[in-house]
Amino acid sequence: MSSPVALRAHFPVLETTAYLNAGTCGPLPAAALQAGADSALAAAEEGRSTAYYERLVEARDGLRARYAERLGAAAPEDVAITSSTSEGMARVLTGLDLRSGDEIVTADDEHPGLLGPLSAARRLRGITVKVVPLRVIDQHIGRRTKLVACSHVHWATGELAPEGLANRPAGVPLLLDGAQGAGAVPVDVGTLRCDFYAAAGQKWLCGPIGLGMLWISPAWQERLMAHMPTYPHLADPSAGLDARPWPDARAHDAFATSAEALIAGRASHDVLADAGWDSVMSRAAGLASDLAGELADRGHTVAPRGHTTLVSWRSDDPAEMVERCARHRVIVRSFPGLPWVRASVGAWNDRGDIDRLLAALGQS
Ligand SMILES: Cc1ncc(COP(=O)(O)O)c(C=O)c1O
Repeated sequence: MSSPVALRAHFPVLETTAYLNAGTCGPLPAAALQAGADSALAAAEEGRSTAYYERLVEARDGLRARYAERLGAAAPEDVAITSSTSEGMARVLTGLDLRSGDEIVTADDEHPGLLGPLSAARRLRGITVKVVPLRVIDQHIGRRTKLVACSHVHWATGELAPEGLANRPAGVPLLLDGAQGAGAVPVDVGTLRCDFYAAAGQKWLCGPIGLGMLWISPAWQERLMAHMPTYPHLADPSAGLDARPWPDARAHDAFATSAEALIAGRASHDVLADAGWDSVMSRAAGLASDLAGELADRGHTVAPRGHTTLVSWRSDDPAEMVERCARHRVIVRSFPGLPWVRASVGAWNDRGDIDRLLAALGQS
C-alpha cells in the first residue's frame, strides 16, 4: 500500500472530521470530484453529442470491468451497473419466477433495501418470508425455500453471513446483499457460491450516489427475467420490435447513469486500487477490530461481529450519542429501532480518528 498518510490525503473531509461513516457513504476523494467536474464542464462547453456519449460508454465499460474484478466475476458482462444495491436486489426479486406458497429465507434486521422488495413479493405474489438469525440462516433452508436473501456483511452489526451458506442444498439460489461487502472485505462470488451479489458504488468504493452493481451468475442470466428492457438493455437497439435484451447482466443495468457519476466513480475506485486492495481491506478491518477491542475494554457492549469494517456498540440513546459525536466532528450513525451506534472504519482512517471517537464518547 502507498502509505496510509498518502491515501488519507486524497479525502478532503478527513482534514477536519473523523469520518467513520463509509457504511452510509464513503468519503469522496478530491480526484473523483475533479474528474466529475471536468466531465460536466466539457459537457457544458462542447455540448452533449457523440464525443460525450463515447466518454460515457467508455466510463461505463471501465467501471463494469473494475466492479467485476472487485467481486471476482469471470467476465465484466456478468455485472450490471445499477443505481444502487437496492435496485440490484429489487431486480432479482422481481425477475425470479416466484409464486404463491414459495418461501424466501432472510435474516433478522436486514436493511430496508432488501426488506422492501421482499415485502412487495409477499404482498403481490403471495410468497412467505421466514426471518431467522443471520448466523444460523443456513440451517433454515427447507423444501419450500425458493431463495435465500440476506446480508453478506450485516449493516447493523458487521456480522458475516455463515460460510455454511456455500453448502446449501443444490437448486436454492442465494442473493447476497453486499452493500457492506464490496470494497470493504474480500469478495469472491465463486467462493461464496452465491447466485446474485448486489452492492454499492457510494459506500466502500467511495463513488458518488447513483452507482451500484449486480453480479448475476452465468447460470441465472437467462432465467432472471428482465421485466423492463429498454434501449440501454438491448443487444441491438436498431432491430425495432425484434430487439432483444443482452443475454447477460447488462440486461439489468440502470435505465440511465450520468457520465459524470461514472467518471467520478471510476476515479474513486482507482484511488483505492492504487493503494492496493489487499492492503486497503486488511488495514480497514485491522483498525476496526482494534476499535472493537478498545470499546469492549472501556465497558461498551460491542455487537457480535465478523472480521469486517463495521463496529457497533449498544447505547441507551443511540441518536443522542451520534449527535454528541457530531459535536466533536466525529461522524457515526444509529439505526431506527435498533440499540446500536455504528462506526465504519476505512483504510483512510487512522489512529487519530479512533482516538477522537473514543474521546467523544466520554464527553458531553
Ligand atoms: C446492508 C445494506 N443493504 C442495502 C443498503 C442500501 O444501499 P443502497 O443505497 O446502495 O441501495 C444499505 C445501505 O446502507 C446497506 O447497509
